[in-house]
Amino acid sequence: MECYYKDDSITIYKSDNLELLRSMPDNHVQLIYCDVLYNSGKDFGDYNDNLGSAVEAVEWYRPRFEEMKRVLKSNCSIYIHCNWRLDSYLRILMDKVFGPSCFRNRIYRQHSGKRGFYSNYDSQMDTILYYIKNPNDFIFNEIYGDTENIVPLFEYGTLAGRDDIRSIGDVKIDLKNQQKHWLVSPSQFEKMAANNEVRIIDGLPYRYSTVIPMGNLWNEPEMLDSYKRIDLSEAYATPKPDAVLNRIIQVSSHPGDTIADFFLGGGTTAAVCKKLGRKFIGCDISQKACDVTIQKLKTIAGTYNK
Ligand SMILES: C[S@@+](CC[C@H](N)C(=O)[O-])C[C@H]1O[C@@H](n2cnc3c(N)ncnc32)[C@H](O)[C@@H]1O
Repeated sequence: MECYYKDDSITIYKSDNLELLRSMPDNHVQLIYCDVLYNSGKDFGDYNDNLGSAVEAVEWYRPRFEEMKRVLKSNCSIYIHCNWRLDSYLRILMDKVFGPSCFRNRIYRQHSGKRGFYSNYDSQMDTILYYIKNPNDFIFNEIYGDTENIVPLFEYGTLAGRDDIRSIGDVKIDLKNQQKHWLVSPSQFEKMAANNEVRIIDGLPYRYSTVIPMGNLWNEPEMLDSYKRIDLSEAYATPKPDAVLNRIIQVSSHPGDTIADFFLGGGTTAAVCKKLGRKFIGCDISQKACDVTIQKLKTIAGTYNK
């Protein structure tokens, strides 16, 4: 397929994503992030967010997700950003396409603070479905900070498969005997022990390290949408904040890897890939989305003249 834009690390296609996906080779990219159509029924001017009923939407997504699985390399990850309208339908579809054991998490991204009055609880979260292709081998880079954090390596209640007796030095840790179970696998625990990160307090294991513990609730101020649209992002209706992509790309890929976004929009993923030294393949059916992205990339490179 003919590309719309290409530089040393970025390729953009103006196309229906299914057509592009079908033309791509197997095992080609290390990470896929897609901020898909939410099926809100809204016309954003840039694109019409309407796929019909939820069942029709699932049938529209099915071949696309199947192709995304095919083009994803084996130790790699896919993040599907959606919201309450389709998230449960897409979770079931992703389970069917990737397999339930490939589900890793449902991430909640806060998109706004309190807004107006409604005869309902205001919806302030959207959802990111996080899957991997191979549950036995996948990239997950921990992010380190400056300060040491102390986190428990156990949880309450016994759980078969997570109740083995482990040792650190001469100390044996029998969590089952204390009605608890392990939160980490034996190999993860061994790695932490080898790094001298494990401490035993009152017979219970904790990790002391500068790793920043990350939950699946992403509500830091930089994760929220900014309605103060400035500069080029103003040119596109629904950009996601860079912080969301920064986290996903750093956790689930390495510098030099190839990341794909088949619902490119205003090019947030492309811009963050450029800043983080990743290669990027993007696709959007809308010419405006492709043009806004290209302008954004040229601005980063310092070659765009307004
Ligand atoms: C929610 S927006 C993505 C916003 C983006 N994450 C950002 O930060 O700017 C979804 C995009 O998908 C595009 N799109 C819709 N249907 C498509 C299709 N069949 N193939 C490729 N792109 C499509 C729309 O044109 C729109 O730009």
